[in-house]
Amino acid sequence: MGLVLGIESSCDETAAALVTSDRSILAQRIASQDEDHAPYGGVVPEIAARAHAQRLAPMIEAVLNDASLRLDDCDAIAATAGPGLIGGVMVGLVSAKALAMASGKPLMAINHLEGHALSPRLADAVLEFPYALLLVSGGHCQILRVDGVGQYRRLATTIDDALGEAFDKTAKILGLGYPGGPAVERLAKTGNSAAVPLPRPLLRSKEPHFSFAGLKSAVMRAHDSGEHAGADIAASFQQAAIDCVLDRLKVALSGQQDLPTLVVAGGVAANMAMRAELEEFATKRAMRFTAPPLALCTDNAAMIAWAGCERLPTEQNDPLDFKALPRWPLDPSADAVRGAGVKA
Ligand code: KG4
Ligand code: ZN
Repeated sequence: MGLVLGIESSCDETAAALVTSDRSILAQRIASQDEDHAPYGGVVPEIAARAHAQRLAPMIEAVLNDASLRLDDCDAIAATAGPGLIGGVMVGLVSAKALAMASGKPLMAINHLEGHALSPRLADAVLEFPYALLLVSGGHCQILRVDGVGQYRRLATTIDDALGEAFDKTAKILGLGYPGGPAVERLAKTGNSAAVPLPRPLLRSKEPHFSFAGLKSAVMRAHDSGEHAGADIAASFQQAAIDCVLDRLKVALSGQQDLPTLVVAGGVAANMAMRAELEEFATKRAMRFTAPPLALCTDNAAMIAWAGCERLPTEQNDPLDFKALPRWPLDPSADAVRGAGVKA
């Protein structure tokens, strides 16, 4: 049985975890930087990098102590090497290189999106390849076909904003604070989702890509008109967003009838209204629906360690001069589309 130390520092969560190849999370710690960034209304890259540099080393020590393990017990050191905010990525990757060098253990440079893509298999022991993955967070908005470790095909991405970003911007417009997704969902419960006519960008377009910039502008206009209650705007926005997701999934999955399972991951997977409609969508198509627990959906180090565990049998390690990559598509053969999957 393999044991991997995982490190995540690509955005505003500093995280470390110890995970075994039989799906046990032996220890994990995570420090959010919400308070550091709150005065600025969003993530400030330099503040994020400094906070990672300050917190990561003691956190790794604490995680090893929590599990009563030593670096020597690990089979590999895995760290996010991109995509993400480059300063933070460098802090995590360089730390992993130093640990790998000092301990003589192999380094695994993990694509953060691969962490998300494989995380459902950490939570769900019966989830086999292939599966369809809807990855929706503040920084990522993609539909992927996951055929195996290292085998990802991007079926769709966003041409402008990520879905979580659209929730956050709507929250900002409505004065609900950051991060906005949970606040929008809460307010939407008390509103009428049919009250405000909002566009469904790219609805029924042949390419399965997402676009949310026009929806955000429409939310802004609805708010500025002063004609609608905030709750109605929140509910109408959420429904428009869900309608877009279902329509884009329908297009992306046509021609992919061999995928038995639909999986959702990323922070927006916490949205219960969307989960319910995704489950219904999957059932109608005779697909099983599964969503990892929320702690594995949002950025975390257990998914990075798990991606390392998945890679152990391949013995595919990375050199100590592996570059930190601000952009790193999971599927290099996919066409470049503006804004694909990286938090701006
Ligand atoms: O995965 P995550 O923690 O970080 C990255 O962006 O990578 O996702 C955070 C995003 C934020 O945009 C947040 O507003 C959104 O997920 N989110 C939600 C909900 N909870 C979090 N969006 C809609 N409904 C929610 N309940
Ligand atoms: Zn992420």
